[in-house]
Amino acid sequence: MPQCAGCGAVAGLGDPWPWSCPKRRDGDDIDHVIVPRLDLAGVPLVMSDSTNPFIRYRGRLSSYHLWVGAGRDDQSFVALVKSLDAAVARLAGLGFRVTPLAHFPDLDEAIGTRVWVKDETGNVAGSHKGRHLFGVLLLLRVLEALGHDVGGELVIASCGNAALAAATVASAGGRHLTAFVPAGADPGVRALLAASGAAVEVCPRDGRPGDPCYRRLRQAVAGGAIAFSCQGPDNGFAIEGASTLAWEVAEARARVRGGALDRVVIQVGGGALAAACVRGFEVLGAPPVVDTVQTTAAHPLERAVGRLRERAQALGSVDAAVAEAAAHRSAYMWPWETEAASVATGILDDETYDWLAVARAMLATGGAAVVVGEAELEDANGLARSATGIDVDETGSAGLAGLRSLVRAGRVERGSDVLVVFTGRRRPASGSAD
Ligand SMILES: Cc1ncc(COP(=O)(O)O)c(C=O)c1O
Repeated sequence: MPQCAGCGAVAGLGDPWPWSCPKRRDGDDIDHVIVPRLDLAGVPLVMSDSTNPFIRYRGRLSSYHLWVGAGRDDQSFVALVKSLDAAVARLAGLGFRVTPLAHFPDLDEAIGTRVWVKDETGNVAGSHKGRHLFGVLLLLRVLEALGHDVGGELVIASCGNAALAAATVASAGGRHLTAFVPAGADPGVRALLAASGAAVEVCPRDGRPGDPCYRRLRQAVAGGAIAFSCQGPDNGFAIEGASTLAWEVAEARARVRGGALDRVVIQVGGGALAAACVRGFEVLGAPPVVDTVQTTAAHPLERAVGRLRERAQALGSVDAAVAEAAAHRSAYMWPWETEAASVATGILDDETYDWLAVARAMLATGGAAVVVGEAELEDANGLARSATGIDVDETGSAGLAGLRSLVRAGRVERGSDVLVVFTGRRRPASGSAD
């Protein structure tokens, strides 16, 4: 049964489906995030040699457990994934496939350690975001087939990679999507959204703190819509799909003797990517050190991690500090006070929605919350593109900027194996990419 990491509530698997914690109330200051709990005893990570991650790692997906738990067979689940994936491929030109993991001598040389690059720029809609959402679409399809009521409209607050991925995946599933976008949304992205059949609603800033698009999403969800977004508090099942990224890395490294990763350096906006990696790497016996990267323009996670670290020291326990923070969220995480601008447009979220699981992993592994400036982001992007030939944007190479800063600060041992995720293909007139 899914359980809330914030209040401990166990959610039933009925209608309404527990996309978010049933006990969540605006203003209760609890860090509610529903986490699927699956019985994985005896379930191998790799279920078949399919190159589709949702088939390969199906034993770790809620949709699969629900399907076979209802007496349906393994092969009919595989067929269901294949048909949805084919629909994605018809729209996007490609479906979901295991993405490349490689290291590049020029990059290793320039950074001074071995840098493993997980390249998501060739993934559906040019980033990892579709992974979050295809996992949710699969679950919607399974719920529908098993007679649940999941007819609500799909909604997302985003005007970049997440919205583009959501529009593609929702359309492949024959579902209507509304995207809540800021007033300054890139016209190119808006046009692409409209071309995918998504409704676009502009949400201007109104002087109140926090993201007005996110507020509109919460309002729509309160009215019966389903959050088709990459934010764990609003849809705990969205995290699972992007854990496929970590499972791919874990499997690839496990094939190599001495293949353990020493650290992962992940760019953080809303925090779902980092949360999915943290959760996904739990399959590795010894999880790597987790470092996060934000920009000097907005770094709410770094602020929260600093406070949590102090509290853990005062209490002498990371777990005790995490438990306290789960019940007093606003003492750690609150919206960034000023409207931020950066070349890394995709990591400018007002709040790190999925923060506590990431912060806990950072404290437990001794990771750092790195903050980088514009020049570092631009330099790292130039290096990323010239050393690897990957056409990644500044958001997508922000992890590399963070790694470079860690190396310069002497925090990375020479010869370490470090993972960065290049996600976010450069778009012609690149605009906001959250
Ligand atoms: C290219 C890219 N990388 C990383 C991120 C960060 O992901 P998250 O918002 O889940 O922290 C985003 C988010 O929009 C993104 O577009």
